[in-house]
Amino acid sequence: MEFPSYIQHPKLRSWIAEMVALCEPDHVHFCDGSQEEYDQLCELLIQKGTFRKLNDTLRPNSYLALSDPTDVARVEDRTFICTPNKMDAGPTNNWVHPDEMHRTLNRLFNGCMRGRTMYVIPFSMGPLGSHISYIGVELSDSAYVAVNMRIMTRMGRAVYDVLNGDGAFVPCIHSVGMPLEPGQEDVPWPCNHEHKYIVHFPIERSIWSYGSGYGGNALLGKKCFALRIASAIARDEGWLAEHMALIGVESPEGEKTYVAAAFPSACGKTNFAMLVPPKEMEGWKVTTVGDDIAWIKIGEDGRLYAINPEAGFFGVAPGTNTKSNPNAMATISKNTIFTNVAMTPEGDVWWEGMTEEPPAELIDWQGQPWTPGSGRKAAHPNARFTAPASQCPSIDPEWENPAGVPISAFIFGGRRSKVTPLVFQTFNWIYGVYMAATMGSEQTAAAAGSKIGEVRRDPFAMLPFVGYHMGSYFNHWLRFGRLLPEPPRIFVVNWFRRDDEGHFLWPGFGQNMRVLRWIVDRANTRAAGTEVGIGRVPRYKDLDWRGMEDFTEEQFDEVMDIDPEAWKQEILSHEELFVRLWERLPSEMVSVRELLLSSMWREPNWDISHRTE
Ligand code: GTP
Ligand code: SPV
Ligand code: MN
Repeated sequence: MEFPSYIQHPKLRSWIAEMVALCEPDHVHFCDGSQEEYDQLCELLIQKGTFRKLNDTLRPNSYLALSDPTDVARVEDRTFICTPNKMDAGPTNNWVHPDEMHRTLNRLFNGCMRGRTMYVIPFSMGPLGSHISYIGVELSDSAYVAVNMRIMTRMGRAVYDVLNGDGAFVPCIHSVGMPLEPGQEDVPWPCNHEHKYIVHFPIERSIWSYGSGYGGNALLGKKCFALRIASAIARDEGWLAEHMALIGVESPEGEKTYVAAAFPSACGKTNFAMLVPPKEMEGWKVTTVGDDIAWIKIGEDGRLYAINPEAGFFGVAPGTNTKSNPNAMATISKNTIFTNVAMTPEGDVWWEGMTEEPPAELIDWQGQPWTPGSGRKAAHPNARFTAPASQCPSIDPEWENPAGVPISAFIFGGRRSKVTPLVFQTFNWIYGVYMAATMGSEQTAAAAGSKIGEVRRDPFAMLPFVGYHMGSYFNHWLRFGRLLPEPPRIFVVNWFRRDDEGHFLWPGFGQNMRVLRWIVDRANTRAAGTEVGIGRVPRYKDLDWRGMEDFTEEQFDEVMDIDPEAWKQEILSHEELFVRLWERLPSEMVSVRELLLSSMWREPNWDISHRTE
């Protein structure tokens, strides 16, 4: 086994050699992360039919990949947390004993890269060399993975300098699971139709992924490392690895406040992170630190500091347009990889919601001719773009600061047609943890096989991403709060409330700035509001309505409505989650539930003339 001279790390060398012996690739390519290498790999992907080059005038240096129609999203039912004890993975994760899983994986990976090239992809999650950052090395037989990893992480030779002698790294092995016999022709999007395994060994801190080439299944720095493995590391080391966007808010006076927002997959983190305030809210500005993942640590001053461990955005394309998210549209104007969107005759991209009028003809995400009358979607609902964060016009000047940005508020939001009001502030850290833990959200296309639209409990928007027992995770959050002299305030939002006809009650997107302003003002202990059973809410007069005066107080009351009967049912339904997590459920959860239930109780009549005693 020949290594480039810049790889001296003994453990890394022996692991690569071991994996090469197991997977039997025809070639090994050590990625250096250069532009030339990226261009060459993209060229190779064009030759293999995986990529189509987009029109270089309309979309410079950009590509379109169309996946296998069965490989379009994360596979939660094939995702495993392999701890020696089943209890340590908890009931919300799939579990197999590590010994058994290693046997299975050794069988699957045996010869799995025959006829293919193994790419050695060194990457840093977080700025290179920062004390908060962690190094990973992904071995993958997919060039698509290599080029995406170059956008999504700090990938390349400089990582080896950081690793130096024998620094720690997380070994990540990935195969599409489709070895080629001699002479066998490849397909544009290789994957394995029978077996998919996305496997995490939190004790070994290693990741094995087999059978899928898509997004979170294959770009192992993202969900597998930066959330599932990192959450387990964070529990041991006393920090947080969260499914959160990181957002800067600047007031007209120039006061900067950072907030962290956790919404489930495809529920608006990217939109919120790149929000453009209505022009009438003069002087308010929003900047983007991250759109998907936050690593949060306690600083020496007792405040929380967060970094975005990623270097790019792997964002949902459908619904993105110059009105809903102009910053995203600018970000993806060049140097972008699109996956599963449609292509126009001019060689540009299109997806549902990009323009009001669909183009007259397209090639759809399955490579078929499409017209508006086709009766099917032109882009897959989980179609995505991969684009460098540095291209985002709203990128925050501090986004690569290794010390992170100070967090003043946490925001949790699901997709709820009913029950949850537009916004409320929870009473304190414990209530906030309760509300985040019991968050419900209507399912989206981000996970394969999800029952789209059905409400599921998605604690902290982390249901598919916590690498250990969910009950212990709640407890980690509670303990964390006790370490903070002034814990950030915790808010709940819901942009997705609908009337009985199914219309959204709130315009959302840029208008969310009105809610964000109230949150930031509350976090800075200024804005007013009033207390109700579930927390503190703004009254109509407490929000900034400049430019949105046509939104009436009645409309506001409707989107803010807190129906005690519906909330009683909601809180009662939390029991199902709690019973599931019982063996590790912090007792605070049960106590808060009782308090919330009691505050939903209403005396039918306060008229003292009815008093009989
Ligand atoms: P992941 O990348 O999957 O973790 O998701 P994300 O949270 O970054 O999701 P993203 O911002 O890409 O959400 C996309 C979906 O949310 C699209 O369907 C948008 O139309 C919708 N969306 C985002 N913001 C709003 C909003 O304020 N109101 C409404 N009604 N829809 C919104
Ligand atoms: C999500 O599903 O939350 C994503 C996309 O951010 S993926 O990377 O595919 O997991
Ligand atoms: Mn996500």
